[in-house]
Amino acid sequence: MTKIAPSILSADFANLKKDVEDVRLAGADYLHVDVMDGLFVPNISIGIPVVKSLRRATDMFLDVHLMIDRPHRYVKEFCQAGADLVVFHVEADQPQDIFAAISLIKEQGKKVGLSVKPRSPASVLVPYIHLLDLVLVMTVEPGFGGQSFMHDQLPKIEEIHNMLKDLNPSCELEVDGGVDPTTAPLVKAAGANVLVAGSAIFGKADRAAAIEAIRKA
Ligand code: DX5
Ligand code: ZN
Repeated sequence: MTKIAPSILSADFANLKKDVEDVRLAGADYLHVDVMDGLFVPNISIGIPVVKSLRRATDMFLDVHLMIDRPHRYVKEFCQAGADLVVFHVEADQPQDIFAAISLIKEQGKKVGLSVKPRSPASVLVPYIHLLDLVLVMTVEPGFGGQSFMHDQLPKIEEIHNMLKDLNPSCELEVDGGVDPTTAPLVKAAGANVLVAGSAIFGKADRAAAIEAIRKA
């Protein structure tokens, strides 16, 4: 069954509790929290204090997507703030620090994911793939919500799906960027089982209908 992870990047931050409650009641599986530092990506969003507040406000599974430079410096704090899953970018750190960050997250009893930008090949995941709970494939250049889905990423999703079948069959495969009822069937067919959607959910008045439209697509 496909899991749906609404991205709060497209929510109303002044009414965040209401927006989160909306998608929880609508049956969303994960709450996707986009953290940006203005360095790894050309935008700044939210950080540790917001994750802490979300943790107090909801029992939803917090899927925290770090788009920050050298994430090993902060992964422990995001775990302690209440993340259930911490996903960081393979492009953002040196190999030894990626291994260190994976260990830090596991030591905190949390799930760990690695994300790949559109221009990174699937092969960059190989050294880490057996250690992961989730792989996140970006289908837009990270940094902003509301961008168009990059169809040229579909073969990579399928390639990673096949790698996971062989090397780590319980690992989840998440796709993020431009997912809506039109693109959802494509990423599902390529093997993704967790679909992030920001504007296609929070941009709609009826969040329950928006989630169902993506889930059933
Ligand atoms: C982009 C973020 C996404 C973003 C997706 O860098 O990682 O999670 O919110 O937004 P949509 O679904 O609008 O493309
Ligand atoms: Zn994201």
